[in-house]
Amino acid sequence: MKENIIINLRNIEGFVQYEEVVALAQQSVRHLDSLNAGTGAGNDFLGWLSLPDDILPQLDRIEKTAKHLRSVSDTTVVIGIGGSYLGARAVIEALSHSFPSLLKSKHHEIIYAGQNICEDYVSDLLEILDARNYSIIVISKSGTTTEPALAFRIFKDHLENKVGKASAADRIIAITDSKKGALRSLADLNGYETLVIPDNIGGRYSVLTPVGLLPIAVSGLDIRALVKGAKAIEELTRHNKNAASNPALMYAAARNLILRGGRSVEILVGFTPRLHFLSEWWKQLFGESEGKEGKGIFPASVDFTTDLHSLGQYIQEGQRILFETMISVKNPKKKLTIPSEKDDSDQLNYLAGKRLSEVNHNAEMGTVLAHNDGNVPVITLNIPELDEYYTGQLIYFFELACAISGYILDVNPFDQPGVEAYKKNMFALLNKPGYEEAGKKLKERLK
Ligand code: PA5
Repeated sequence: MKENIIINLRNIEGFVQYEEVVALAQQSVRHLDSLNAGTGAGNDFLGWLSLPDDILPQLDRIEKTAKHLRSVSDTTVVIGIGGSYLGARAVIEALSHSFPSLLKSKHHEIIYAGQNICEDYVSDLLEILDARNYSIIVISKSGTTTEPALAFRIFKDHLENKVGKASAADRIIAITDSKKGALRSLADLNGYETLVIPDNIGGRYSVLTPVGLLPIAVSGLDIRALVKGAKAIEELTRHNKNAASNPALMYAAARNLILRGGRSVEILVGFTPRLHFLSEWWKQLFGESEGKEGKGIFPASVDFTTDLHSLGQYIQEGQRILFETMISVKNPKKKLTIPSEKDDSDQLNYLAGKRLSEVNHNAEMGTVLAHNDGNVPVITLNIPELDEYYTGQLIYFFELACAISGYILDVNPFDQPGVEAYKKNMFALLNKPGYEEAGKKLKERLK
């Protein structure tokens, strides 16, 4: 039997007592109950709770579509932003080769677009795509988000000019709402294959829908193992009312108690660059779910040991507003032993014969102790390895913990009203029809 994520709270004990965490976690069982009963805030966005089962009937179709894209192209451009982008990238970058584009062996390249409006980025990508045989997956729940919509217009045009309209239509997959939105209309009009984002699942909770699973499958990863991992952690947490044995309740409670103790910034820490985009996904999940009504913990992230040589100084000795949550991965996929050198001119022979991961692991333990000495509470999440199964566990674990944590904070963890503010201003400044008056006022302010 496989292990599950283990939460270690030993290194928060100088700040919050274990018994206090268990007590708040136990009180928070009511939030778990209201999630399961659908009686809390945002209860029309709870479809993600049962995704590990609900998605199973769709896996064949997702795999078939992925196989098709892999057979007609060597590159897929995944167009999306926020919750329609970060989950797929988080999983793909955590589990793929670190230098995929430099691999000699045959490999399907995944490239991202629509997550920015940078003219240079898009132009550079078009230049690359001139010489690639590519497909497009365009993802937008609303079907109207400006960044991916603009990118799709540009890349669709490029692909049609390159391979013709009919062949382009055969290699464009749209993932969107079943009925509404401009992308839905466009897909129906052009006969693109479509996959659906269910109404009751918000973008940041959508990794285990086609939004995340199709790009992940196209990249060659095992989506069934990912879902299996999510299912295992659902079984451990979703109906588990014994708080001390429920890591999602314990994590939600611990971080809220640390916040109440004055630490309003949580840094997600990984000791492998593979976790970089999982942290980006996590930041969106917690930032959009909790940051409202003047509340919430600001989610930040670092890649250690890299960032120990930049942000490490601040974490060790700067303002005491921080705490860390560390994802500790026991075993790397590959094995590399440090060679011995005859004259030991770099004085590293004391490490000869050791695995590089042993050095990394000691850096990790040393960092936890140093940061603890520097008054930083550290929550540790242990997983045996970073594979599809444990990444699936992490995804469901963080989603459930985030929903519980939002309820502890007494906010709706499933809306994101604040995201609209910049959009309205951008539309007004760009003279979008209907925004003329607002545009005039904003332009006055910019004078
Ligand atoms: O989590 C969210 O709801 C957002 O980040 C959205 O996913 C993001 O804005 C993209 O929206 P859409 O999928 O409608 O294009």
